[in-house]
Amino acid sequence: MNLTNRTFHIQTFGCQMNERDSETLAGMLTEMGCTEEPERDKADIVLINTCSVREHADERFFGTLGQLKKIKKQNPGFVVGLCGCMMQQQHIIDRVKTKFPWVDIIFGTHNIHEFPKLISALVQEKEKQIDVWPDGGEIVEGLPSKRKYKFKSFVNITFGCNNFCTYCIVPYTRGRERSRSPEDIVREVRALARDGVKEITLLGQNVNSYKGISSSTVTADAGEDRLSVEKGTGEKRVTTFPQLLYMLNEIEGIERIRFMTSHPKDLSQELIGAFRDCDKLCSHIHLPVQAGSNRVLQRMNRRYTKEKYLELISQLRGARPDIAISTDIIVGFPGETEEDFEETLDLCRKVGFDSAFTFIYSVRKGTPAEKYEDQVPEDVKHERFARLVDVINTSAAEKNKAMEGRICDVLVEGPSKHGQEGMMSGRTSGFKLVDFPGNMTKEGQIVKVRITEGKTFSLRGEIAES
Ligand code: SAH
Ligand code: SF4
Ligand code: F3S
Repeated sequence: MNLTNRTFHIQTFGCQMNERDSETLAGMLTEMGCTEEPERDKADIVLINTCSVREHADERFFGTLGQLKKIKKQNPGFVVGLCGCMMQQQHIIDRVKTKFPWVDIIFGTHNIHEFPKLISALVQEKEKQIDVWPDGGEIVEGLPSKRKYKFKSFVNITFGCNNFCTYCIVPYTRGRERSRSPEDIVREVRALARDGVKEITLLGQNVNSYKGISSSTVTADAGEDRLSVEKGTGEKRVTTFPQLLYMLNEIEGIERIRFMTSHPKDLSQELIGAFRDCDKLCSHIHLPVQAGSNRVLQRMNRRYTKEKYLELISQLRGARPDIAISTDIIVGFPGETEEDFEETLDLCRKVGFDSAFTFIYSVRKGTPAEKYEDQVPEDVKHERFARLVDVINTSAAEKNKAMEGRICDVLVEGPSKHGQEGMMSGRTSGFKLVDFPGNMTKEGQIVKVRITEGKTFSLRGEIAES
């Protein structure tokens, strides 16, 4: 199907998984002859890639659909497609069908590879296309991609999640966990390196539980890392997450490796060892803790304790003394008492996070915590949230202040988003944002920057050498 002369715009909500999926969708549309239009309301085809992790995300989506209704009225040829995590929920699809009947295409997280087929059918048959799969099948390899950046890229390593934290919708919207084979990942990363990519971020809801099964059967020296896949057909080699890191660390041209997100319950000693051994592995880990009270952690089904988390932090710092640590925290989980919340504050003070994403608990339909009766009142959640943000900002500012005077390697990403003329910004190995005077000639390069000021949310610096 050729859609030449049509323009498209993809609006993406949610996490890096969705960002990566949107790059795939953009790749498909580009292969079909479409061009990207930066302004949503001027495009011929608009895709909304949705997120459902909190209620706020749902509300923003319905607000966006309301805005698109006006354009659809003026131009009936305007195509609106919906995909992503919200579309995996029947109650959302029902609401879209009754309130927004003019939506043209709906698909889910498990069949984005079918999008070219759906849009072709819509254009040819002039009929609405709705196709959502309840769960993911085999991983589809080799889909096109239109990457946002030339010099850095996301790389999926696992899809889905098996953890069922009691507050979380993701296992229902992304299905069971599946890992790509190490060969497919290595092939993709080599191709990215040839294309000029210096930094890769490995993506998965829980990268630590990556179990990559090689496409070829291996029979020699079977050990613990072998798994019998099919009875009677021999054994296939299983690659763990740390082993994958060691493999990727060898790829020429790749200078930085990051990953998101890791779960404390599966953070192995081998992964800590990789921070000692792999020079390309960045000095940063995003390790969501969610809460500091063991009672709350248990009700969340997180399967670790506050003490275990603190031990992991000290081991990580032992392996990589300059490692920056960020986290996710939820306040106001059902049944959270003042004492429980103080445990969270205590944990934050003990760790001294470099940064944190802090969330107010939001009830998600169909999750176990929806049924918990002891929901925390809104005003209490907000009051705790403010106190938590205060503690986090204090440690973030302290950590950044301690960077003053240091010379850091910074991957230059582009003009500073803070808007000052002549300022560029980039990221340190620890994922800290640095603004410094410079121009576009350095974009995509790793340069030495002397940190002159450490602020709460970013650093300022100057180029130390070119
Ligand atoms: N897989 C990742 C997190 C994915 S969701 C992990 O386990 O670390 C990103 C973050 O959103 C979570 O870490 C959690 O802090 C937050 N979150 C998820 N569900 C939520 C809910 N119902 N209410 C508030 N925050 C939530
Ligand atoms: Fe959600 Fe927990 Fe899975 Fe993360 S690990 S996606 S928080 S269920
Ligand atoms: Fe949102 Fe789905 Fe990601 S619910 S956070 S887009 S996995």
